[in-house]
Amino acid sequence: MRRHLCVLLLTASQFAAPARASAAELASSYARARERTAQLREAGRAIFSDPMFSASGRQSCASCHDPARRYNPPNARDVQTGGPALRDQGLRALPTLTYLDRVPPYDNHHYDSEDEADNSIDNGPTGGLTWDGRVDTGAQQAAIPLTSKFEMANTIAGVAAAARKAPHAPTLRAALGSTVLDDDEHAFAAVARALAAFEEDDAEFSPYTSKYDAVLTGRATLSAQEQRGLALFEDARKGNCAQCHLSRRGLDGTPPAFSDYGLIALAVPRNANIARNRDPAFFDLGACGPEREDKANQDEYCGLFRTPTLRNVALRSAFFHNGKFHDLREVVEFYVTRDITPERWYAKDANGKTVFYDDLPAPYHANINRDPPFAGQKPGARPALSKSEIDDIVVFMRTLSDGYLKDSPYRAERGPAVSALPHEQSAR
Ligand code: HEC
Ligand code: HEC
Repeated sequence: MRRHLCVLLLTASQFAAPARASAAELASSYARARERTAQLREAGRAIFSDPMFSASGRQSCASCHDPARRYNPPNARDVQTGGPALRDQGLRALPTLTYLDRVPPYDNHHYDSEDEADNSIDNGPTGGLTWDGRVDTGAQQAAIPLTSKFEMANTIAGVAAAARKAPHAPTLRAALGSTVLDDDEHAFAAVARALAAFEEDDAEFSPYTSKYDAVLTGRATLSAQEQRGLALFEDARKGNCAQCHLSRRGLDGTPPAFSDYGLIALAVPRNANIARNRDPAFFDLGACGPEREDKANQDEYCGLFRTPTLRNVALRSAFFHNGKFHDLREVVEFYVTRDITPERWYAKDANGKTVFYDDLPAPYHANINRDPPFAGQKPGARPALSKSEIDDIVVFMRTLSDGYLKDSPYRAERGPAVSALPHEQSAR
């Protein structure tokens, strides 16, 4: 009965409001809603750098995702450490937090939107946050590091207590309601929402201010070497990088995200520096677990990791999901010689024989990608890229770092930012 009443009230007020409220009242209610979003974002910004949300009291989101490096790691370590005494090593390299607004929700069968590309092709498993796509929203994601035993290692109660004590507690209450921090569950959810709101700040996380964006909008030109690198990056018989790391604007003009966010098995070599890999029976299999749990025992998902954006990639120094490589050149060499000189990449067994794909057990080898530049690779074959061509691609990837332009050129293309939503304009 009560539920019915609520629905009725809601419906009545929904339809009645625009007719009854004066333009001034409407304007002020929209202004209030915008102010709340801004407050939530500001609280999120503060929490992001506040170490009191961790069990150690010494680690914040920003300790790992460094704002000064476009939210890449602050150091070259393969993986970072966290936990109550900051001594517990993580399992994966940490991705940049830029351009996450472009990641679609996880889907086993992803079709592009009609506006962006060919919408008739099943691109397979795509999207979701983290390397294995296991969550879809910023708020769900934020709950992971806050409580992960090798990241901030806190509890729901601990995060709630920190939120109540924090200098930004009044901002959080102003944004979400005066009682929002009263019980632990709501306080924890409020913190996660604030972090997600902060991560949606375009100017901070999706700036589109790289040299390449300047080139795409006619404000700069690539050097001869960068231009060669781009051509090799896009050439299906050479790098073929753009097959997955999309480099062209969408049909509707959307700037390229340098990822199609597909989950792919590249068979990156095992990283012996990761403590959990000391157990020879342990494998990080990406989409089929163990971090992600909904696809355990579904063999076709084993070894799949989400394609990362290459925007701001030159500002990081640990590459691939396990941080195995530290040099972009080495990454490209791996792409073009994985199956040509496997002995360079993979460990040897007790008999001194190279174990092909040493971080992916044999039953899952069928999942390994063999598109160019992997196609046709076998010992003795010629790599798809020469040494100098590899250099060209690396130089091109450096044009993808933000900060070359002060403002996004696409904003200017769209004309001045819309100051009021259409229904607000008609209310005036
Ligand atoms: C100890 C280092 C560390 C800390 C502290 C940390 N993260 Fe992360 N973050 C990681 C790692 C590692 C991953 C990749 C995890 C995975 O794929 O399983 C990640 C992934 C992410 C992602 C997903 C990125 C993507 O490409 O999908 C987001 C968003 C994120 N972190 C936000 C946060 C927020 C918000 C905080 C603070 C509450 C935080 N992180 C604290 C290490 C850290
Ligand atoms: C078939 C899809 C595909 C193709 C083709 C491809 N990549 Fe990737 N790329 C991925 C995936 C998936 C990952 C993450 C793999 C992992 O960590 O297990 C990745 C990771 C990377 C990384 C590491 C980024 C980071 O933040 O750790 C770089 C750099 C990169 N690719 C560059 C290239 C270049 C250069 C080419 C062309 C020579 C290329 N890729 C071709 C799918 C692809």
